[in-house]
Amino acid sequence: MRCPAGHSFDIARQGYVNLTTGRTPHSGDTAEMVAAREEFLTAGHYDFVVRALGGAARTAYPGMGLIVDAGAGTGRHLAGVLAGLPDAEGLALDVSKPALRRAARADPRISAALADTWQGLPVADGAAGLVLNVFAPRNGAEFRRVLRPDGRLLVVTPEPDHLRELVAALGLLTVDPDKPEKIARSLGGHFTEAATSTHTAVLTLGRAETAALIGMGPSAWHGRADPGALPERTTVTAAVRVSTWRPSD
Ligand SMILES: C[S@@+](CC[C@H](N)C(=O)[O-])C[C@H]1O[C@@H](n2cnc3c(N)ncnc32)[C@H](O)[C@@H]1O
Repeated sequence: MRCPAGHSFDIARQGYVNLTTGRTPHSGDTAEMVAAREEFLTAGHYDFVVRALGGAARTAYPGMGLIVDAGAGTGRHLAGVLAGLPDAEGLALDVSKPALRRAARADPRISAALADTWQGLPVADGAAGLVLNVFAPRNGAEFRRVLRPDGRLLVVTPEPDHLRELVAALGLLTVDPDKPEKIARSLGGHFTEAATSTHTAVLTLGRAETAALIGMGPSAWHGRADPGALPERTTVTAAVRVSTWRPSD
């Protein structure tokens, strides 16, 4: 790919383009975490999130503009949103190369690029109809810049009781109870909340599925959970909030 100023960027064999210059300060989710995420999501355990996000996207999409997923992971959520919006195109952004390899293959209408949310998105001003942000870092100023004035930001975050049984049994990281206020503070000034809903599913997981759920999440970074201690079957509550934000005037 070439930009008008003559810079060129190679498209990786695996289908994504690295649009960063210089080194990214961190490399995002590891290959093991991404493999665990793919296994867990492909089994359909978080399809309730895909459905909730897809419904919010159909309501919020202005009918024009790119659908950008910042911190897209394997691209499953973006693919789910595109399934309900047959004329839209998607762009999966992430800093994790293993994630981008999967996102690039998740749907023919998804393009994938390596980009750091903190450093800025490789998207023109006002080019996006939707920005999706699912369990990933947020940059309110950048999300605002890339959205059309009638575009919307959709944010999915864990609720305080998300995975509460695993938190209690295995000492997983807890969800910050002040998370909604912190999100509002980080987006405030750039966005106004337009709608919000919570969604819960009770999952019954085998040992390998529970290990995948732990392995794909923040606890994998902290090495807290011992898969040997997992029971054969675990009932786990998954609870998320889907909020829709419109650009502030
Ligand atoms: C918890 S995962 C969620 C992935 C996906 N949204 C999903 O729900 O399946 C967080 C993702 O954000 C990515 N990430 C972390 N820091 C990032 C950054 N600064 N810029 C872009 N992506 C980032 C990680 O590599 C990972 O894929």
